[in-house]
Amino acid sequence: MDEELWTAVDRHIVDKLIPHDPPLQQALSDNAAAGLPAIDVSPALGKFLHILARIQDARRILEIGTLGGYSTIWMARALPQDGKLITLEIEPKHADIASVNIKRAGLSSFVEIRRGPALDLLQLLWNESTHPFDLIFIDADKQSNPAYLEWAIRFSRPGTIIVCDNVVRKGALVDAENREESIQGIRRFFEMIAADPRLEATALQTVGSKGYDGFALVRVRA
Ligand code: SAH
Ligand code: DHB
Ligand code: MG
Repeated sequence: MDEELWTAVDRHIVDKLIPHDPPLQQALSDNAAAGLPAIDVSPALGKFLHILARIQDARRILEIGTLGGYSTIWMARALPQDGKLITLEIEPKHADIASVNIKRAGLSSFVEIRRGPALDLLQLLWNESTHPFDLIFIDADKQSNPAYLEWAIRFSRPGTIIVCDNVVRKGALVDAENREESIQGIRRFFEMIAADPRLEATALQTVGSKGYDGFALVRVRA
């Protein structure tokens, strides 16, 4: 593999297209200082999510898996004044750090961090009979991707976009020898999409500062 080259190209992309951004950079350095794993989306993917939210005119965004709020900040910045992003996180420490990072980015009024196991929080959210979401980002425990996809569809309207991170995992997706639950969850996620006429989808492989992975892009049909 050519991780060094991928990282150099990612650096070039950031240098040219993603200007110096103190709140986002401070979020990453505070995450590292607190010992959080550096599994946030890359800057390039963060900005991709931001632009996607803009294309979508997203007013309501749902995120499953907050970590330190890096992807949260990218997406929340795309919201209009009356917009809302709800993000779900099981680890209290992650949620605490995300809360500080989001506040520093001036986004506290747009973002609600809900704490607990996402599957419980999704049920609670459903009980609130909330409005559908325009954009849903799935990025938590990968073995639950099938359940998260079902919830995402329930929380959708025609035209909702669902993005699921980390669906390639260095090619483990197609390694028949790999029977890890997380990888099985990703495979099942693909099978469910393929079998569901309500959905149209693709997936893109990515290389860069986060290695070799990919994301799925799903649209709920009219
Ligand atoms: N979206 C973030 C990265 C998320 S990393 C970003 O790109 O910046 C995955 C996060 O999901 C971790 O913080 C982990 O604690 C959380 N997570 C794992 N299992 C979970 C569960 N069952 N419910 C809610 N959050 C979960
Ligand atoms: C892992 C989780 C992520 O959301 C990610 O972007 C990368 C890695 C993980 O659990 O290993
Ligand atoms: Mg991820």
